[in-house]
Amino acid sequence: MITYKNVCKKYDDVTVVKNLNLTVHDGEFVVFVGPSGCGKTTSLKMINRLIEMDEGTIYIDDQDVNKIDGDQLRRGIGYVIQQIGLFPNLTIKENILVVPRLLKWSEEKCEARVHELLELVGMPYEENAHKYPKEMSGGQQQRIGVLRALAGEPPIILMDEPFGALDPVTRENLQDELKILQKKLHKTIIFVTHDMDEAIKMADRIAFMYDGKLLQVASPEDMLRNPADPIIKSFMSKHVSTLENQSLDLKCKDVMSTDILLITEQKKAMEIMSLMKQKEMNWAIVVDEEKTFKGTISLQNIKKQGELTGVAQDLMDTKAETILLTADAKEAFNRLMKSRAKFLVVVSENGKTVGIITKSIITEKLANVVWGDLDWVL
Ligand SMILES: Nc1ncnc2c1ncn2[C@@H]1O[C@H](COP(=O)(O)OP(=O)(O)OP(=O)(O)O)[C@@H](O)[C@H]1O
Ligand SMILES: [Mg+2]
Repeated sequence: MITYKNVCKKYDDVTVVKNLNLTVHDGEFVVFVGPSGCGKTTSLKMINRLIEMDEGTIYIDDQDVNKIDGDQLRRGIGYVIQQIGLFPNLTIKENILVVPRLLKWSEEKCEARVHELLELVGMPYEENAHKYPKEMSGGQQQRIGVLRALAGEPPIILMDEPFGALDPVTRENLQDELKILQKKLHKTIIFVTHDMDEAIKMADRIAFMYDGKLLQVASPEDMLRNPADPIIKSFMSKHVSTLENQSLDLKCKDVMSTDILLITEQKKAMEIMSLMKQKEMNWAIVVDEEKTFKGTISLQNIKKQGELTGVAQDLMDTKAETILLTADAKEAFNRLMKSRAKFLVVVSENGKTVGIITKSIITEKLANVVWGDLDWVL
């Protein structure tokens, strides 16, 4: 548990953190959010005393951080920053092991820890441990930055805009990974961002700061519903409509396209091509007599086969995923955004194929209707 008690920080005559009181519980993910210069980084760095406070104190459990040796304090707290800060002359393994080595872990334990951590984020040891940071992408480096913070098994991790410098897709992936890690490892995390989307996605509770003051601490949903201050409201304005619109309760049947070409498994390539031509479509869905989904088939694929004597069953691709007509449109949206699939096949509850949802249909129909503007969704 981390407890800020009447914490103040001044630079010359300017108080940049004003009487901060806040308790972060064990295993909680708290996000400090607010505009640039509002005091987020300062508040974070006072926990591990990279910045010393002027008044008040911070307790970790019941220990006053001001009474712990600074270096010792910092070894026990993970810290991740935007600029990554990997040591360029150390391999990935040695970067990860900086803190365990300071803690004088045995070579065996260190080796096991590196294996375990790389595995945790799906980066095999053999391929990655002996690389240097410059041989990795920004996203991979930032992942290593997170692992390095976890390496010494600290119960607390501080993260200051850790994904701020990454492209949106990598950023989204690392956010997802961090949430999964957090569920597995139950760390206490304080995460700084000035991006409200990120705060809403990641936080158990959001702590909103403005001009050195903590204006509100609440779960993302509570903050969306009851912003305590007009400034918070304006910061969240584009999200408020999201929440209200959730009552629209869109289902797959509301957003799917029924403009599809169904063909049976025994249909010959020649016939399929001519049906495609009539319908001006370059793909079709293969079904059995009961209209049960069997696969998909594209014009390109038929042409690739060269000879046109085959039947649908032999030419089709069975990889496509299906979704129920009655499922939430949001689920279809999430699945499409997360996977490589270009579309989902919509099936009714009695198993009949009834339509499709593609990325472009859903972006247009769902996102545009529900969220109005798209810039924050994509
Ligand atoms: N070393 C310093 N000397 C003087 N003023 C400082 C110093 N460090 C920070 N400040 C000021 O303290 C205030 C809070 O800074 P802080 O870095 O905590 O903001 P922040 O919320 O993290 O902003 P950002 O989103 O831009 O990172 C700012 O007005 C900043 O200019
Ligand atoms: Mg900052």
